[in-house]
Amino acid sequence: MAPSTSAVVVLSSLASLVAGHGYLKSITVNNQNYLAWQVGQDDYVTPTPARYARKLANNGPVPDFTSNNITCGAGGNIPAEGVIDLKAGDTVTLNWDQWGSSHSGPVMTYLAHCTGDDCKTFKGDTGNVWVKIEQLEYNPSGNPPWASDLLREQGAKWSVTIPPTLAPGEYRLRHEILGLHVAGTRMGAQFYPSCTQIRVTQGGSTQLPAGIALPGAYDPDDKGILTELWRIDQGQITYKAPGRDVWSEAAPNANRPGP
Ligand SMILES: *[C@@H]1O[C@H](CO)[C@@H](O)[C@H](O)[C@H]1NC(C)=O
Repeated sequence: MAPSTSAVVVLSSLASLVAGHGYLKSITVNNQNYLAWQVGQDDYVTPTPARYARKLANNGPVPDFTSNNITCGAGGNIPAEGVIDLKAGDTVTLNWDQWGSSHSGPVMTYLAHCTGDDCKTFKGDTGNVWVKIEQLEYNPSGNPPWASDLLREQGAKWSVTIPPTLAPGEYRLRHEILGLHVAGTRMGAQFYPSCTQIRVTQGGSTQLPAGIALPGAYDPDDKGILTELWRIDQGQITYKAPGRDVWSEAAPNANRPGP
């Protein structure tokens, strides 16, 4: 390859990596739109704008997914001002600012019950509080096979149904994309989590069971975290996302039947 050609290849792949980043921009429930933290804007606004999801430092992945930044993204896990009222069984649409093509991987959403039904004082960074309520991974006969690519094709949107039997109370909805494009390198997996604060005003009587701890549960050597995307794509190995199975009380996946 001529030097000039390889330079172009490197530049264009760097550009696509940067363009591939994204963040949760807003949340739609029952035709109402609620803003998340506006990356690159809200930091410069005084007083701090009232948002419904916790602050994110930038649109990149969590720098170290074994650190506290994995709980709600790099941004300090600072309580947001707003809490979204909804009912168990409602479908929430999570709107990303954009999502690029090179970051294939699973999409996962968890719930944690805010202690004392007060999301503004709840951090969620200790204990097995996170329960997976939806995920899609890789389906070789899906079009497209990877969940994050489906999110892109849906216009950088993802739908999550709140478990219909869930008891009323305040919860933190933790939604994330896991980009596996450099997951063949240990600690190379790219997690893009966000935390939205919700209040279930009507529901059933089921409490969340024990879940996983974040940080803690995402082991750098988990086969869903340290893996090679191209080998999955070529059918050489299968893929199972980290973070345990989806809760038995969860609603069917609102994006497509799994996996
Ligand atoms: C958490 O994220 C912030 C913002 O990106 C970063 O400055 C900090 O070093 C991170 N902490 C760890 C332990 O990775």
